[in-house]
Amino acid sequence: ISLKPHNTFGMEVEAAHFCQLDELVQLPAVLASTAYQTGPVLWLGGGSNLLLTRDYPGLVIKVALGGIRLLEDSADSVLVEAAAGENWHDFVRYSLQQGWYGLENLSLIPGTVGACPVQNIGAYGVEVKDRIAQVVCADLQADGNPLLLENADCHFAYRDSVFKHEAAGRLLVTAVRFRLSRQPQLKTGYGDIQQELEKRGIPQPTPLDVSDVVMAIRASKLPDPAVLGNAGSFFKNPVIEQSQADALLLRFPALPHYPAGPGLVKLAAGWLIEQAGLKGYRQGDAGVHARQALVLVNHGLASGSQMWALARHVQETVLQRYGVELEAEPLVW
Ligand code: EPU
Repeated sequence: ISLKPHNTFGMEVEAAHFCQLDELVQLPAVLASTAYQTGPVLWLGGGSNLLLTRDYPGLVIKVALGGIRLLEDSADSVLVEAAAGENWHDFVRYSLQQGWYGLENLSLIPGTVGACPVQNIGAYGVEVKDRIAQVVCADLQADGNPLLLENADCHFAYRDSVFKHEAAGRLLVTAVRFRLSRQPQLKTGYGDIQQELEKRGIPQPTPLDVSDVVMAIRASKLPDPAVLGNAGSFFKNPVIEQSQADALLLRFPALPHYPAGPGLVKLAAGWLIEQAGLKGYRQGDAGVHARQALVLVNHGLASGSQMWALARHVQETVLQRYGVELEAEPLVW
């Protein structure tokens, strides 16, 4: 089975076995199947955080569980549950249209609801952990029995959670429960949002206005995977020691940097890559995006291993120039 329609880099690789999970009742049978038992197993949402460099010898399971339910409704807030296979951006827009606020800054992020807690998606000063109440899981080691994780159980951190570590391969996210506000509490301080609202002449923006602006800003910088294969930011923004940051700032006074907890500083990887001369750089069809250096793009026929070779080149160049290691963010197979 070709995985090309199931990964946003558009890699032409094959899976030995493939199945789609449309209903939770199918799960025990999937877990009991020979393909699952033999393994390896790759769970897939939108395939937007994944670089496939070779054929997959095992079972790929696409999680396509659907449904949105209102669990609690009060004057101040709602608790809403969305199934793992729901498209993230469609859910964000739906929630805003219902008057449930808080996800507006996370508009237009590719992928599914089920993937959002795994890497704790974030943009424009909001991380999804700020809005998640609980994550509904299936226990893969107990016939898929349901298990409810509270926010604190998920060990959320920057682009990280328990689902990348202890729970990987053991718990499947089947739905996510969000606590959303009925009163707008806008966060427009980050990046160009405020500027863009002013430019549009919107002095008192609604959450839908903020969502519109975030969509426009993202569309201006980030490539549409349907047009140019990519997996969003390919590297995490590196977090380094204050002392190392101080030394770097002496050499590169313009280096963007943000506080990241006691004694730690987060750097803008896009700036490091751009200033190293790699923005728009290409090795054949594998390229560094010309408008956002943190994004690697497939200009057409690059293979996964060519993309990975480019990623290594970027890592080595940045390490040599700044002494900073860049960690790949997507799952690389
Ligand atoms: N920058 C450059 N050159 C570039 C890109 C960025 O100099 O080519 C500089 C910018 O000028 C700015 C700083 O780097 O000073 C930060 O840039 P930006 O606001 O574009 O965000 P980012 O740090 O590059 C992160 C997230 C994005 C998210 C944006 C907006 C990560 C790995 N990436 O990118 O998330 O949309 O902030 O909040 O944290 C993703 O994870 O896939 C993703 C797209």
